Amino acid sequence: MEENNGTQWIDVASVEDLAEGQAMEVVAQGEVIAIFRNGDQYYALDGLCAHQGGPIAKGSCSTTDKGEPCVTCPWHGWQYELATGIQTINRQPLQRTFPVRENGGRIEVSLG
Ligand code: FES
Repeated sequence: MEENNGTQWIDVASVEDLAEGQAMEVVAQGEVIAIFRNGDQYYALDGLCAHQGGPIAKGSCSTTDKGEPCVTCPWHGWQYELATGIQTINRQPLQRTFPVRENGGRIEVSLG
């Protein structure tokens, strides 16, 4: 669906597919995307880890010492803030993030 500001939203899942505190992997326009749910908040990151392509959606979720929700890659433990994609050790935005929203019971992402 296209809106006035030109954002193209892509329907990727039902909110019922993604329980609170869980993550799922989807493919949108050929891109592997990891979607996370934290309460009513959703986050979308590149599904392939910036290090060596590990499956980010299979990582474990926690919070940083600053209280930011984050995910730890299951392969070698690189950790990223969900909202920014910042790698928590070197503070660089290594992991791409995407706009994501809930709309009428559906989860939608924008790949920009
Ligand atoms: S592939 Fe993710 S930490 Fe190495």
